[in-house]
Amino acid sequence: MGPAVTNASLSEARSGVMAKGFVSATNCYIAKARGASLFDVEGREFIDFGGGIGVMNVGHSHPKVVAAIQQQAERFTHTCFMVTPYEVPVALAARLCAAVPGNFPKAVMFANSGAEAVENAVKIARYQTQKQAIIAFENSFHGRTLLTMTLTSKVKPYKFGFGPYAPEVYRMPFAYCYRCPFQLTYPTCGVACAEALNDFFISQVAPEATAALIAEPVQGEGGFITPPKAYFQKLKAICEANQVLFIADEIQSGMGRTGTMFAMEHYGVVPDLTTVAKSLAAGMPLSAVVGRKEIMDAVHPSGIGGTYGGNPLACAAALAVMDVFKEEDLLARAKTLGTRIQSRLQAFEEEFELIGDVRGLGPMMAMELVTDRVKKTPATDAAKALVKYCFDHGLILLACGTYGNVIRLLMPLVISDAQLDQGLEIIYDGLVFIQSNSHA
Ligand SMILES: Cc1ncc(COP(=O)(O)O)c(C=O)c1O
Repeated sequence: MGPAVTNASLSEARSGVMAKGFVSATNCYIAKARGASLFDVEGREFIDFGGGIGVMNVGHSHPKVVAAIQQQAERFTHTCFMVTPYEVPVALAARLCAAVPGNFPKAVMFANSGAEAVENAVKIARYQTQKQAIIAFENSFHGRTLLTMTLTSKVKPYKFGFGPYAPEVYRMPFAYCYRCPFQLTYPTCGVACAEALNDFFISQVAPEATAALIAEPVQGEGGFITPPKAYFQKLKAICEANQVLFIADEIQSGMGRTGTMFAMEHYGVVPDLTTVAKSLAAGMPLSAVVGRKEIMDAVHPSGIGGTYGGNPLACAAALAVMDVFKEEDLLARAKTLGTRIQSRLQAFEEEFELIGDVRGLGPMMAMELVTDRVKKTPATDAAKALVKYCFDHGLILLACGTYGNVIRLLMPLVISDAQLDQGLEIIYDGLVFIQSNSHA
């Protein structure tokens, strides 16, 4: 028997052979994962409030997903859908067309990562409209490839040093009510930030040159920024009036994360194109663009595609995910979770000055930490300290936000009440610890 594998030995082995920029937030190396629990190579258990960044809505190693992958693996693992097609992506496309908002014919194309789905949505929008400009938002995150990095807002670490960026991307302020870019207050603002799109078409880019606007229904990496309902309704109406397509990037907010299958349902807005990834296939790399059939079908044969798009293992996993949502009524579970989490975070907000804002949709909830509630100074160090405290006490927690001061919750929706409460208790203890240290 060789020497035991430990977190330290793997860290050391990794440092010699893996690129430093390809970093991990923790140094626990996972040996096994079940439901909402992770177990590292040293046998330590963690409650997972990160879900592999919003990927594990149906829980780790769900038996149905595992069985679907195993069965498909025994049949075949790859033929390339572009060469010799097979059934699973066809069945999955039908399920996605039915699940994505919009009472009209739709079509789907599959890719492997979220960024690839966004890239394809932009290509399709450009092709169909024969226009080039894309409007994206401040605080947005759409990926790390050249085009999606360009669409992404935050400079460090995502963009710095990686230019030049892709052309014809224009950026508007978002409905970040807690830090309103127009210094207004909802609802007396009249959602001026959405009305601003009319001015944007005059001062920044003409609608005749604009293919699409792309928005996250709840900005994920940007800090779980959740606009008021009227925001997307107004944006969509202005887009329609100007023949500009509306792309919803549901990569983080979709697949039940907010208590509805897609977050746009909360706003009553039907996008022209929707990007889906993350929890779609419970960790198998799979993404999709789902959209109006006439837009999706506009592209010439082979204009979109890829070697692994519609990979059979990933599609089999995604079909199992869809079944699990139905059989276990996960949307209802998500709503219950959302209510429980919201009331607990609001209680935290009352108790701890450090919390400036609690926001989100359903269980996609976050708290923004500030050192001063009036000035709203981002408490980035406190967010880091809270994440570390939680890790040290057996909870995986993720920070996000333009200033890195937002704590977001992305636990599997199958988490038990007991485990949820245990995780929230660790956060509570962490807040007490940080508050007592800041007064020390
Ligand atoms: C809204 C959104 N879009 C796109 C992406 C990029 O997805 P991927 O990392 O799979 O390329 C992410 C990833 O966090 C995301 O949250």
